Order: sequence, then structure tokens, then C-alpha cells
Amino acid sequence: MLLNSPPARAEKHEGAHADGEQNGNRGGAWRGRERCTDPVARYIDGGFEKVDGFLVEGAVTLIAAIARKQEDLGVRGHVCEIGVHQGRAFILLHLLARPGETGVAIDVFERQDLNVDASGRGVRAHFERNCRRHGVDMDRVRILSTDSLDLSGDDLRVAAGGPLRLVHIDGGHTEQAACHDMATSAAALAPGGVIVVDDYFHEQWPGVSDGVRTFFRTHPGADLVPFAVGGNKVFFCQRAFSKAYRACFEALRVSGYAKQTVMFGEPVLTFAFWRMGPRDRFIRSRWWYAIRGQRGIRALRNWRRRRLGRAAA
Ligand SMILES: C[S@@+](CC[C@H](N)C(=O)[O-])C[C@H]1O[C@@H](n2cnc3c(N)ncnc32)[C@H](O)[C@@H]1O
Repeated sequence: MLLNSPPARAEKHEGAHADGEQNGNRGGAWRGRERCTDPVARYIDGGFEKVDGFLVEGAVTLIAAIARKQEDLGVRGHVCEIGVHQGRAFILLHLLARPGETGVAIDVFERQDLNVDASGRGVRAHFERNCRRHGVDMDRVRILSTDSLDLSGDDLRVAAGGPLRLVHIDGGHTEQAACHDMATSAAALAPGGVIVVDDYFHEQWPGVSDGVRTFFRTHPGADLVPFAVGGNKVFFCQRAFSKAYRACFEALRVSGYAKQTVMFGEPVLTFAFWRMGPRDRFIRSRWWYAIRGQRGIRALRNWRRRRLGRAAA
């Protein structure tokens, strides 16, 4: 996708479905014909929607792209989610893990008295059932049925059997929980690993952004920078890897609109995923960009604006 310019094409699930070099899910085990039989492809191609949860398709595309980039970069490590609920995001992380890699699943589950801001509601039996249904190898899953506030970075490393290359933070949404989970994840992160924070810009969960900013204030030496925003998530990695991950996201062709901007003083790519109607597609097409300034077209647009009672540009 060209940044700051209209997407060439936009279709439902485009990033997750279409083939071709530009595609969000090209390569790896989930390409072409393998799609029908491969659990990763099945899950990406809509299987995730059968699991109750909050992960949206744009985020699926971005997370799958990270996993693929990590393969290219030779980034090693395990995967982890804090706040698994019924497994919608965890299953994706685990299916994207390679043989020998462990998935650490953390949730208070039945101890909902510890879920102080009532963010989701994990049920362990449902979580495990969903994992099995979608092809997760349970021998490579470590379930920590606990309050994430009681965990340290070392606990995560020990549970996983080493550092983590992909962590999704989606547990407690208070400032305290978000800050703590950031610190824990940062302490367990492998070189080149990525931390994905859910709900950072969600208007009902201001504690998440408060917590992340508190983390950076209280950990001034943390080598973590945001590199992308999209699918209701902010993506962080070590500074040395930001460029590579941004380039990987830049190459995706996804539905919605991407642009380059700045967060915490760092370059980030932002993705607004939405389903565009014919008018949205038209006004974002290269063709419209090329002709919209021409005299006849301008006159027509001004006439239309006047008719609609708006001032002419
Ligand atoms: C928003 S849901 C997670 C959604 C999930 N990531 C998905 O993909 O659908 C939040 C989850 O975090 C759990 N949770 C809340 N506070 C927690 C805490 N302090 N420690 C661990 N888990 C917590 C809840 O039980 C709930 O299952």
C-alpha cells in the first residue's frame, strides 16, 4: 500500500484472503491451495470469527504479517497473551508459533473478582475447547490461571521456556494493570520481539493509554517504540527493529486507509480499517485523484456544493 495515497484496491478481508506479493498473508504455510486444509489459513480466513472475543480482521492481518516478518528476520522466541478470554487472539498467536515454540495463556478465568474493571470474562473450559477446535497443540500451551499483577517478566520466561517474540496485552484495562503488563512483557521480550497493546485508543478504556504512558515514564531506559497503530491496537518493538516492521506493514495491501504519522516522537504507520462503499472507493481511486482538479470537474463540484448549500471551495 502506498502511504498517504488512496489504496489501489479495497475488499473485504483483502489482506487476509487475496494472493499475490503485496498481500498481507502471502507466503508461509498459509498460501494458495493449502488454505483449505491448513489450520492457520482456516483460522485467518474467518475461523477466528467463530470464537467469542474482540479481535478484528484488520488486527489478524497485521499480527500474521508480524509473524511472517519475524520468520524472515530470524527472530526466535515464544508467544504469549495476557487476558485470553475465550481464546480468539491466543489461538491466532499459537497457530502462528513454530514447532518447538510455546504459547503462554494468562487469565484470571473463574476468579472474576480479580477482573476489577470487568474487561471481558475468561472461562477456562471454553478457552481450552476453542483451542482444541481450532487445531492448537495443547502440549505446547502453558495456561497461567492467575492475576497478571502477580507475574514478573521472569515468570513469563520460565513459563514459556525462554524469551517471547510476540505478546498480546489484553488483560486488566486499568492504568495499574496496563503499566504492569507492559513492564512484565518488556522484561520477557526477545530481541526483535513485538508487544501488541489492545484498546490503547478505545474511548471506554482510558486506563490502557494511561498505563502505557506510566510505564514509559517509570521505565525511562525501556528500549521500546511504537511502530504502528491499527485494528484497535498499538504495536511496540525495540527501536532497532522499528524500520523493518514498518516496511513490512507498508507492503501490505489491506482494506481501509494507511498513513504515516508520529507517536511518542517516533514514526508510526496507522491503519483505519473499514469497509468502503462504492463512493468511498471512487473518491480514493487514483483515477479520481488525477482528474478532480480539472476545470470542468471543479466547476461541477462547486455547482454540487452550492446545491447542497455548502460554500464553494
Ligand atoms: C478483553 S478480554 C480479552 C479478549 C481476548 N484477548 C480476545 O482475543 O478475545 C480481557 C480478559 O482479561 C482477563 N483479565 C482481566 N483482568 C485480568 C488480570 N488482572 N489478570 C489476568 N487476566 C485478567 C479477563 O478475565 C478477560 O478474559
